[in-house]
Amino acid sequence: MNVTKAVAEKEFSDIFGHAPDGVWVAPGRVNLIGEHTDYSGGFVLPMALPQVCTVTAAKRDDDRITVCSRQRPEDRVSAGIDLVPGDVTGWAAYALGIAWALRAAGHRIGGADLVLDSTVPIGAGLSSSAAIGCSVASAFRDLFDLPLEGLDLAAVARTCENEFVGAPTGVMDQAVSMMAQPGHLFFLDTRSMRIEQVPFALDQAGLTLLVIDTRTAHELNDGGYGSRRQAVEDGTRLLDVPALRDVGIQDLDAALTRIGDTTVAARVRHVVTENARVEEVVRLLRSGADPREVGPILSAGHRSLRDDFEISTPELDAAVESAEAAGAFGARMTGGGFGGSAIALVDTDAVDEVKAAVAGTYAERGFQPAAFFSAVPAAGAHRLP
Ligand code: GLA
Repeated sequence: MNVTKAVAEKEFSDIFGHAPDGVWVAPGRVNLIGEHTDYSGGFVLPMALPQVCTVTAAKRDDDRITVCSRQRPEDRVSAGIDLVPGDVTGWAAYALGIAWALRAAGHRIGGADLVLDSTVPIGAGLSSSAAIGCSVASAFRDLFDLPLEGLDLAAVARTCENEFVGAPTGVMDQAVSMMAQPGHLFFLDTRSMRIEQVPFALDQAGLTLLVIDTRTAHELNDGGYGSRRQAVEDGTRLLDVPALRDVGIQDLDAALTRIGDTTVAARVRHVVTENARVEEVVRLLRSGADPREVGPILSAGHRSLRDDFEISTPELDAAVESAEAAGAFGARMTGGGFGGSAIALVDTDAVDEVKAAVAGTYAERGFQPAAFFSAVPAAGAHRLP
Protein backbone atom coordinates (compact mmCIF):
# COMPACT_ATOMS: atom_id res chain seq x y z
CA MET A 1 0.00 0.00 0.00
CA ASN A 2 1.22 3.50 -0.81
CA VAL A 3 2.24 5.58 2.13
CA THR A 4 -0.30 8.25 3.20
CA LYS A 5 0.60 11.93 3.31
CA ALA A 6 0.55 12.00 7.11
CA VAL A 7 2.84 8.97 7.35
CA ALA A 8 5.21 10.39 4.73
CA GLU A 9 5.41 13.70 6.63
CA LYS A 10 6.11 11.88 9.89
CA GLU A 11 8.82 9.73 8.27
CA PHE A 12 10.44 12.90 6.97
CA SER A 13 10.35 14.69 10.34
CA ASP A 14 11.74 11.62 12.11
CA ILE A 15 14.70 11.55 9.71
CA PHE A 16 15.45 15.25 9.24
CA GLY A 17 14.10 16.75 12.46
CA HIS A 18 11.96 19.37 10.69
CA ALA A 19 8.69 19.45 8.75
CA PRO A 20 8.64 18.97 4.94
CA ASP A 21 7.32 21.49 2.41
CA GLY A 22 5.24 18.91 0.53
CA VAL A 23 4.66 15.36 -0.64
CA TRP A 24 4.71 14.29 -4.32
CA VAL A 25 4.02 10.97 -6.01
CA ALA A 26 4.74 9.49 -9.44
CA PRO A 27 3.67 6.03 -10.61
CA GLY A 28 5.34 3.03 -12.16
CA ARG A 29 3.86 1.81 -15.43
CA VAL A 30 2.97 -1.25 -17.37
CA ASN A 31 3.13 -1.11 -21.16
CA LEU A 32 0.15 -2.66 -22.91
CA ILE A 33 1.83 -2.63 -26.33
CA GLY A 34 4.53 -0.67 -28.18
CA GLU A 35 7.81 -2.11 -26.95
CA HIS A 36 11.22 -0.82 -28.06
CA THR A 37 9.55 1.66 -30.39
CA ASP A 38 10.15 4.80 -28.34
CA TYR A 39 13.71 5.49 -29.46
CA SER A 40 12.88 5.37 -33.17
CA GLY A 41 10.00 7.86 -33.24
CA GLY A 42 7.34 5.18 -32.83
CA PHE A 43 4.13 4.61 -30.89
CA VAL A 44 3.61 3.35 -27.33
CA LEU A 45 0.50 2.54 -25.29
CA PRO A 46 1.37 2.18 -21.60
CA MET A 47 -0.70 2.97 -18.50
CA ALA A 48 0.27 4.18 -15.05
CA LEU A 49 0.08 1.76 -12.12
CA PRO A 50 -1.39 2.57 -8.72
CA GLN A 51 2.03 1.80 -7.22
CA VAL A 52 4.01 5.03 -6.78
CA CYS A 53 7.25 6.51 -5.56
CA THR A 54 6.42 9.04 -2.85
CA VAL A 55 8.87 11.90 -2.34
CA THR A 56 8.63 14.07 0.74
CA ALA A 57 10.82 17.15 0.44
CA ALA A 58 11.85 20.44 1.97
CA LYS A 59 14.08 23.23 0.72
CA ARG A 60 17.38 23.78 2.53
CA ASP A 61 19.21 27.03 3.20
CA ASP A 62 22.39 25.79 1.55
CA ASP A 63 23.18 24.17 -1.82
CA ARG A 64 23.24 20.55 -0.71
CA ILE A 65 20.77 17.82 -1.57
CA THR A 66 20.35 14.93 0.83
CA VAL A 67 18.28 11.90 -0.10
CA CYS A 68 17.13 8.92 1.97
CA SER A 69 15.03 5.96 0.91
CA ARG A 70 12.73 3.89 3.10
CA GLN A 71 13.81 0.94 0.94
CA ARG A 72 17.53 1.55 1.78
CA PRO A 73 17.42 2.77 5.37
CA GLU A 74 21.16 2.30 5.79
CA ASP A 75 22.04 4.87 3.05
CA ARG A 76 21.84 8.63 3.31
CA VAL A 77 23.37 10.19 0.22
CA SER A 78 24.34 13.84 0.02
CA ALA A 79 25.83 15.98 -2.76
CA GLY A 80 26.15 19.63 -3.79
CA ILE A 81 23.73 20.89 -6.47
CA ASP A 82 26.75 21.30 -8.76
CA LEU A 83 27.19 17.52 -8.99
CA VAL A 84 28.07 15.95 -12.36
CA PRO A 85 27.55 12.47 -13.88
CA GLY A 86 29.73 9.92 -12.10
CA ASP A 87 29.54 11.68 -8.71
CA VAL A 88 26.71 9.44 -7.49
CA THR A 89 25.89 5.88 -8.50
CA GLY A 90 23.30 3.30 -7.42
CA TRP A 91 19.70 4.07 -6.48
CA ALA A 92 20.44 7.65 -5.35
CA ALA A 93 21.59 8.61 -8.87
CA TYR A 94 17.96 8.38 -10.06
CA ALA A 95 17.03 11.14 -7.61
CA LEU A 96 20.16 13.32 -7.47
CA GLY A 97 20.59 13.15 -11.25
CA ILE A 98 17.38 15.17 -11.53
CA ALA A 99 19.15 18.13 -9.91
CA TRP A 100 21.96 17.78 -12.44
CA ALA A 101 19.53 17.46 -15.38
CA LEU A 102 17.53 20.52 -14.28
CA ARG A 103 20.68 22.61 -13.98
CA ALA A 104 22.00 21.26 -17.29
CA ALA A 105 18.75 22.55 -18.86
CA GLY A 106 19.43 25.99 -17.36
CA HIS A 107 17.07 25.94 -14.35
CA ARG A 108 17.97 27.48 -11.01
CA ILE A 109 17.47 25.26 -8.00
CA GLY A 110 18.73 25.27 -4.42
CA GLY A 111 19.39 22.55 -1.88
CA ALA A 112 16.74 20.16 -0.57
CA ASP A 113 16.16 17.23 1.77
CA LEU A 114 14.27 14.30 0.24
CA VAL A 115 12.81 11.06 1.56
CA LEU A 116 11.75 8.46 -1.03
CA ASP A 117 9.33 5.65 -0.29
CA SER A 118 8.29 3.48 -3.24
CA THR A 119 5.79 0.68 -3.70
CA VAL A 120 6.82 0.08 -7.33
CA PRO A 121 8.57 -3.30 -7.42
CA ILE A 122 12.27 -2.78 -8.18
CA GLY A 123 13.83 -4.58 -11.17
CA ALA A 124 10.42 -5.86 -12.28
CA GLY A 125 10.33 -3.91 -15.54
CA LEU A 126 7.62 -1.64 -14.13
CA SER A 127 9.64 1.60 -14.23
CA SER A 128 10.51 2.05 -10.60
CA SER A 129 13.27 4.34 -11.87
CA ALA A 130 10.94 6.62 -13.84
CA ALA A 131 8.74 6.80 -10.73
CA ILE A 132 11.71 8.13 -8.73
CA GLY A 133 12.79 10.56 -11.43
CA CYS A 134 9.31 11.94 -12.09
CA SER A 135 8.39 12.33 -8.42
CA VAL A 136 11.66 14.11 -7.64
CA ALA A 137 11.37 16.30 -10.76
CA SER A 138 7.82 17.27 -9.73
CA ALA A 139 9.02 18.14 -6.23
CA PHE A 140 11.84 20.34 -7.58
CA ARG A 141 9.48 22.08 -9.98
CA ASP A 142 7.17 23.10 -7.15
CA LEU A 143 9.86 23.82 -4.55
CA PHE A 144 11.74 26.15 -6.89
CA ASP A 145 8.82 27.47 -8.99
CA LEU A 146 10.24 26.18 -12.24
CA PRO A 147 8.22 27.00 -15.39
CA LEU A 148 7.97 23.36 -16.49
CA GLU A 149 4.98 21.33 -17.73
CA GLY A 150 4.54 17.57 -17.49
CA LEU A 151 6.31 16.64 -20.72
CA ASP A 152 9.17 19.03 -19.87
CA LEU A 153 9.66 17.19 -16.59
CA ALA A 154 9.48 13.86 -18.43
CA ALA A 155 12.31 15.08 -20.66
CA VAL A 156 14.34 16.09 -17.59
CA ALA A 157 13.78 12.68 -16.00
CA ARG A 158 14.81 10.96 -19.23
CA THR A 159 17.98 13.05 -19.46
CA CYS A 160 18.78 12.05 -15.90
CA GLU A 161 18.41 8.36 -16.77
CA ASN A 162 20.28 8.59 -20.06
CA GLU A 163 23.15 10.81 -19.07
CA PHE A 164 23.48 10.68 -15.30
CA VAL A 165 22.53 7.05 -14.62
CA GLY A 166 23.76 5.81 -18.01
CA ALA A 167 20.69 3.87 -19.18
CA PRO A 168 19.94 4.70 -22.86
CA THR A 169 16.13 4.62 -22.54
CA GLY A 170 13.45 6.26 -24.65
CA VAL A 171 10.85 8.64 -23.19
CA MET A 172 7.86 6.31 -22.71
CA ASP A 173 8.26 5.57 -19.01
CA GLN A 174 8.81 9.14 -17.91
CA ALA A 175 6.03 10.50 -20.14
CA VAL A 176 3.38 8.10 -18.85
CA SER A 177 4.55 8.51 -15.26
CA MET A 178 4.07 12.29 -15.58
CA MET A 179 0.94 12.48 -17.74
CA ALA A 180 -1.27 9.41 -17.29
CA GLN A 181 -4.95 9.73 -16.43
CA PRO A 182 -6.89 7.23 -14.29
CA GLY A 183 -8.97 4.76 -16.31
CA HIS A 184 -7.00 5.44 -19.49
CA LEU A 185 -4.21 4.05 -21.56
CA PHE A 186 -1.67 6.66 -22.55
CA PHE A 187 -1.03 6.72 -26.29
CA LEU A 188 2.13 8.61 -27.21
CA ASP A 189 3.59 9.36 -30.61
CA THR A 190 7.22 9.65 -29.52
CA ARG A 191 8.15 11.78 -32.53
CA SER A 192 5.50 14.50 -32.44
CA MET A 193 4.92 13.90 -28.69
CA ARG A 194 1.20 13.89 -29.43
CA ILE A 195 -0.73 12.33 -26.57
CA GLU A 196 -4.12 10.66 -26.62
CA GLN A 197 -5.74 9.38 -23.45
CA VAL A 198 -7.56 6.20 -24.55
CA PRO A 199 -10.35 4.98 -22.23
CA PHE A 200 -9.66 1.44 -20.96
CA ALA A 201 -12.65 0.30 -18.94
CA LEU A 202 -11.47 -3.20 -18.13
CA ASP A 203 -13.76 -3.66 -15.13
CA GLN A 204 -16.87 -2.84 -17.17
CA ALA A 205 -15.88 -5.59 -19.60
CA GLY A 206 -15.30 -8.07 -16.75
CA LEU A 207 -11.60 -8.13 -17.55
CA THR A 208 -8.39 -7.96 -15.56
CA LEU A 209 -4.93 -7.06 -16.76
CA LEU A 210 -2.86 -9.44 -14.68
CA VAL A 211 0.79 -8.54 -14.09
CA ILE A 212 3.07 -11.53 -13.63
CA ASP A 213 6.36 -10.45 -12.08
CA THR A 214 8.87 -13.21 -12.88
CA ARG A 215 11.12 -11.86 -10.12
CA THR A 216 14.09 -12.24 -12.39
CA ALA A 217 16.10 -9.07 -12.50
CA HIS A 218 15.82 -6.62 -15.35
CA GLU A 219 18.47 -3.92 -15.84
CA LEU A 220 18.60 -1.30 -18.57
CA ASN A 221 22.24 -0.38 -18.31
CA ASP A 222 23.92 -3.73 -18.75
CA GLY A 223 24.32 -3.92 -22.52
CA GLY A 224 21.33 -5.88 -23.88
CA TYR A 225 19.12 -2.81 -24.14
CA GLY A 226 21.91 -0.74 -25.67
CA SER A 227 22.71 -3.36 -28.31
CA ARG A 228 19.05 -3.51 -29.39
CA ARG A 229 19.02 0.23 -29.65
CA GLN A 230 22.19 0.10 -31.74
CA ALA A 231 20.63 -2.45 -34.14
CA VAL A 232 17.59 -0.18 -34.55
CA GLU A 233 19.92 2.72 -35.38
CA ASP A 234 21.85 0.55 -37.85
CA GLY A 235 18.57 -0.45 -39.54
CA THR A 236 17.46 3.17 -39.74
CA ARG A 237 20.73 4.13 -41.42
CA LEU A 238 20.69 1.20 -43.85
CA LEU A 239 17.15 2.04 -44.92
CA ASP A 240 18.00 5.72 -45.14
CA VAL A 241 14.85 6.86 -43.34
CA PRO A 242 14.61 9.54 -40.61
CA ALA A 243 13.29 6.87 -38.19
CA LEU A 244 11.90 3.31 -38.41
CA ARG A 245 8.54 4.88 -37.82
CA ASP A 246 8.76 6.00 -41.46
CA VAL A 247 8.72 2.41 -42.74
CA GLY A 248 5.08 1.44 -43.36
CA ILE A 249 3.96 -2.13 -42.75
CA GLN A 250 3.12 -2.44 -46.47
CA ASP A 251 6.73 -1.56 -47.35
CA LEU A 252 8.31 -3.86 -44.79
CA ASP A 253 9.14 -6.85 -46.98
CA ALA A 254 10.81 -4.71 -49.62
CA ALA A 255 12.70 -2.81 -46.92
CA LEU A 256 13.98 -6.02 -45.33
CA THR A 257 15.52 -7.18 -48.60
CA ARG A 258 17.72 -4.07 -48.44
CA ILE A 259 19.22 -5.09 -45.10
CA GLY A 260 21.96 -7.72 -45.47
CA ASP A 261 22.42 -8.41 -41.77
CA THR A 262 19.72 -10.88 -40.70
CA THR A 263 19.85 -9.81 -37.06
CA VAL A 264 19.36 -6.14 -37.93
CA ALA A 265 16.55 -7.15 -40.31
CA ALA A 266 14.78 -9.06 -37.52
CA ARG A 267 15.08 -6.10 -35.14
CA VAL A 268 13.63 -3.79 -37.80
CA ARG A 269 10.78 -6.23 -38.46
CA HIS A 270 9.90 -6.16 -34.77
CA VAL A 271 9.79 -2.37 -34.60
CA VAL A 272 7.76 -1.90 -37.78
CA THR A 273 5.21 -4.60 -36.91
CA GLU A 274 5.03 -3.35 -33.30
CA ASN A 275 4.13 0.17 -34.41
CA ALA A 276 1.35 -1.35 -36.53
CA ARG A 277 0.14 -3.34 -33.51
CA VAL A 278 -0.11 -0.19 -31.39
CA GLU A 279 -2.13 1.55 -34.08
CA GLU A 280 -4.44 -1.46 -34.38
CA VAL A 281 -5.04 -1.66 -30.63
CA VAL A 282 -5.80 2.07 -30.44
CA ARG A 283 -8.15 1.76 -33.42
CA LEU A 284 -10.02 -1.13 -31.78
CA LEU A 285 -10.35 0.56 -28.40
CA ARG A 286 -11.36 3.91 -29.92
CA SER A 287 -14.08 2.18 -31.94
CA GLY A 288 -15.56 0.74 -28.75
CA ALA A 289 -14.63 -2.88 -29.59
CA ASP A 290 -14.62 -5.54 -26.87
CA PRO A 291 -11.15 -5.23 -25.26
CA ARG A 292 -10.86 -9.03 -25.58
CA GLU A 293 -10.13 -8.41 -29.26
CA VAL A 294 -6.85 -6.83 -28.21
CA GLY A 295 -5.65 -10.15 -26.78
CA PRO A 296 -4.29 -11.79 -29.95
CA ILE A 297 -2.40 -8.59 -30.81
CA LEU A 298 -0.65 -8.73 -27.42
CA SER A 299 0.32 -12.35 -28.04
CA ALA A 300 1.66 -11.49 -31.49
CA GLY A 301 3.71 -8.75 -29.83
CA HIS A 302 5.22 -11.30 -27.49
CA ARG A 303 6.24 -13.60 -30.34
CA SER A 304 7.89 -10.67 -32.08
CA LEU A 305 9.84 -9.70 -28.95
CA ARG A 306 10.82 -13.32 -28.40
CA ASP A 307 11.81 -14.26 -31.94
CA ASP A 308 12.74 -11.03 -33.73
CA PHE A 309 13.94 -8.80 -30.91
CA GLU A 310 15.23 -11.71 -28.77
CA ILE A 311 14.71 -10.08 -25.40
CA SER A 312 12.41 -12.60 -23.73
CA THR A 313 13.54 -15.20 -21.17
CA PRO A 314 12.40 -18.74 -20.30
CA GLU A 315 10.50 -17.33 -17.30
CA LEU A 316 8.69 -14.71 -19.41
CA ASP A 317 7.85 -17.25 -22.12
CA ALA A 318 6.54 -19.70 -19.51
CA ALA A 319 4.34 -16.99 -17.97
CA VAL A 320 2.90 -16.06 -21.36
CA GLU A 321 2.36 -19.64 -22.55
CA SER A 322 0.76 -20.87 -19.31
CA ALA A 323 -1.50 -17.81 -19.10
CA GLU A 324 -2.66 -18.38 -22.68
CA ALA A 325 -3.18 -22.10 -22.09
CA ALA A 326 -5.29 -21.29 -19.02
CA GLY A 327 -7.61 -19.02 -21.02
CA ALA A 328 -5.98 -15.59 -21.19
CA PHE A 329 -7.13 -13.68 -24.30
CA GLY A 330 -3.54 -12.59 -24.87
CA ALA A 331 -0.29 -12.20 -23.00
CA ARG A 332 3.14 -10.71 -23.52
CA MET A 333 6.29 -9.66 -21.78
CA THR A 334 6.22 -5.96 -20.95
CA GLY A 335 8.98 -3.38 -20.58
CA GLY A 336 12.62 -3.50 -21.61
CA GLY A 337 12.97 -7.31 -21.45
CA PHE A 338 15.67 -9.70 -20.23
CA GLY A 339 13.56 -10.45 -17.14
CA GLY A 340 10.93 -8.39 -15.37
CA SER A 341 7.20 -8.84 -15.88
CA ALA A 342 4.61 -10.23 -18.28
CA ILE A 343 0.97 -9.14 -18.63
CA ALA A 344 -2.07 -11.25 -19.40
CA LEU A 345 -5.55 -10.08 -20.41
CA VAL A 346 -7.89 -12.35 -18.50
CA ASP A 347 -11.58 -12.68 -17.66
CA THR A 348 -11.79 -11.54 -14.05
CA ASP A 349 -13.51 -14.83 -13.21
CA ALA A 350 -10.51 -16.75 -14.57
CA VAL A 351 -7.76 -14.84 -12.73
CA ASP A 352 -7.26 -17.51 -10.06
CA GLU A 353 -7.05 -20.23 -12.68
CA VAL A 354 -4.45 -18.32 -14.69
CA LYS A 355 -2.37 -17.59 -11.59
CA ALA A 356 -2.49 -21.25 -10.59
CA ALA A 357 -1.44 -22.34 -14.08
CA VAL A 358 1.56 -20.00 -14.11
CA ALA A 359 2.53 -20.97 -10.55
CA GLY A 360 2.27 -24.66 -11.50
CA THR A 361 4.50 -24.26 -14.55
CA TYR A 362 7.05 -22.31 -12.52
CA ALA A 363 7.17 -25.01 -9.84
CA GLU A 364 7.55 -27.75 -12.48
CA ARG A 365 10.43 -25.94 -14.17
CA GLY A 366 12.19 -25.08 -10.93
CA PHE A 367 11.75 -21.28 -11.38
CA GLN A 368 11.38 -19.17 -8.28
CA PRO A 369 7.70 -18.31 -7.65
CA ALA A 370 6.24 -15.41 -9.64
CA ALA A 371 4.36 -12.54 -7.97
CA PHE A 372 0.97 -11.41 -9.30
CA PHE A 373 -1.16 -8.28 -9.14
CA SER A 374 -3.96 -6.68 -11.17
CA ALA A 375 -3.08 -3.49 -13.00
CA VAL A 376 -5.64 -0.68 -12.77
CA PRO A 377 -4.92 2.41 -14.92
CA ALA A 378 -3.97 5.12 -12.43
CA ALA A 379 -2.98 8.81 -12.34
CA GLY A 380 0.31 10.38 -13.34
CA ALA A 381 2.58 12.45 -11.08
CA HIS A 382 1.01 14.94 -8.67
CA ARG A 383 1.46 16.72 -5.38
CA LEU A 384 -0.64 15.27 -2.59
CA PRO A 385 -3.27 17.80 -1.49
C1 GLA B 1 12.41 0.56 -21.04
C2 GLA B 1 12.78 1.97 -21.46
C3 GLA B 1 11.71 2.56 -22.37
C4 GLA B 1 11.36 1.61 -23.51
C5 GLA B 1 11.14 0.20 -22.99
C6 GLA B 1 10.95 -0.79 -24.09
O1 GLA B 1 11.29 0.58 -20.23
O2 GLA B 1 12.93 2.80 -20.34
O3 GLA B 1 12.12 3.82 -22.85
O4 GLA B 1 12.34 1.65 -24.50
O5 GLA B 1 12.19 -0.26 -22.17
O6 GLA B 1 9.77 -0.53 -24.76
